[in-house]
Parts: sequence; structure tokens; C-alpha cells
Amino acid sequence: MEHLTSISAVRERVRAWRREGHTVGFVPTMGALHAGHTSLVEAARRACHRVIASVFVNPAQFGPNEDLSKYPRDLPGDMLKLEQAGCHALFTTTPDEMYPEGFATWVTVEGLTDGLCGRARPGHFRGVTTIVAKLFNLVQPDDAFFGEKDRQQLQVLRRMTRDLDLPVRVHGCPTVREPDGLALSSRNLYLSPADRTRATALSRGLRLARAAYEGGERQAAALERVVRAELEAAQARVDYVEVVDLATLKPVAEAGDDTLVAVAAVVGATRLIDNHRLGDAFPGA
Ligand code: PAF
Repeated sequence: MEHLTSISAVRERVRAWRREGHTVGFVPTMGALHAGHTSLVEAARRACHRVIASVFVNPAQFGPNEDLSKYPRDLPGDMLKLEQAGCHALFTTTPDEMYPEGFATWVTVEGLTDGLCGRARPGHFRGVTTIVAKLFNLVQPDDAFFGEKDRQQLQVLRRMTRDLDLPVRVHGCPTVREPDGLALSSRNLYLSPADRTRATALSRGLRLARAAYEGGERQAAALERVVRAELEAAQARVDYVEVVDLATLKPVAEAGDDTLVAVAAVVGATRLIDNHRLGDAFPGA
């Protein structure tokens, strides 16, 4: 795997691939990679001739009281995992290269970013859309791959790509879970053993909501109560439990297959998120 450390090196590499007739898949990440990320690389490998990943902990998407300084970083480990997943090139960069002195241009998606995580994390999605727009511009991939665990991010990025006519196909890939249901996340590294056990309340709540839906429950409020009860029993601090339309991310009263149950909760000191589309079987259930 080639390690590229500047914008010009990325442009040159991708241009050379294009000259050779290759299609290019892109997997943007913030590092601390796990099997969820490597599943994105594998999906990119299936869809494209060449795969490039990026590792950049993007300061612009962290709030002032968030975990930017202690966000897990392990570049040697990340490189090994990417290499083993068959990634062809890795781009790493720095805040100075991405946000040079005088940087003043932001990409904002309205509406879809108002609710769910947007409410608790003002400015977060503006940071995500700005960095992903920049990365799309400098890599110029055919296809880009994101995890469904960050479902709001995925929907926001799809909208940005459509609204700005960016010539990139955005793919969502299924959440990868631990055997006990916990969605893989770099932030799981923060959990103490006791909190790690309590963290299963998020996926358990979603699995029970899906079981209730399968059993005929259609009232959003009832489905929400099922999830809340699990979180409260595990003494997780609920940020939100919402039953929303998958396309608009707006709350619905009646659930259907294209309804998403989305949850964010703080376990110990760690904020975790998860979600499930009610029309899908819950994995492992
Ligand atoms: O999902 C992430 O890891 C980040 O939000 C992303 C898309 C790489 C942008 O920094």
C-alpha cells in the first residue's frame, strides 16, 4: 500500500490510475480503524479497480467540549489493517494542509442536519460536509463508502453530493456489530469493562423495537418507549431516541419499513450512537 502525505501526491496517484483505465473507490476515515472500516474497504474493492482511504481526525467536526484531543490515534495499526483489507493507497494529511490560514469556505446542508445528532452537536455536520467535499474534490473518486452506523451523516452526504452535482456515487454499508450486538465504533475504545457491558443496551433496545414492529406495533411512541426502557435500565443517559422517516429524518407518528429508529446515549463518559431501519431484520436476531 502506498502512503501519500500531500494533496499533490494524491492527485498524481489518482491521475496515473485513471490513465491506466482504473476506476477509483474512496473510503474516508478518522482512523482508529475497526472491522466496520475494513468492510468499507472490502466493498470498495468489490466495486472499483483501485481503492484509496484517508485517515484524518478532522478538527472542524468536533465541538469545543468534545473529544478531539483524546480521539484514538493509531496510524501504524491502521496501515496494517488497510493493507490487509487490500487498500491500494492511504492519504494522511494535517489540519494545516486542510485548513490553511484564512480558510473561510464551508459546505452546509440545511434541514437534515437540524435534528438527531445535529441538535446535540452544533457545527458537527458542517465540519463533516466541508471535509468530505474537499476530499471528494482532491481524490475525485467514482465511488465513496460510508457506514450506516452514522446514518444521519450518510443521508447528509448523499444530499450534499446530489445538491452540488458532485460526480461521486455515495454507498452506505451495513453496520458491523460485535457478537453481543454492540455497533463497532472507534469510541468503543473509551469504554471501561463495566460500561462496555452497559453499552449493549443501545443495540438491545433497537432489536426489541424491531421485534415489536415485527409483532405488529406501529405506534412510534410505543417503539420509542421500548428503546428508552433498555437504556434507562442500563443507566445510560439518553441524548435522543427518535423514530424518524429514513429520507427526511423527521419524526413520524406511525412506523413503516422505511422508518429509522435512531438512538444516542452516554454510557460512562462516552457518547454512543446506533440506529436500525425497521424494515430490515436485526442482525443476529
Ligand atoms: O465518519 C467519519 O469517520 C468522519 O465523519 C468522516 C466521514 C471521515 C469525515 O471526517
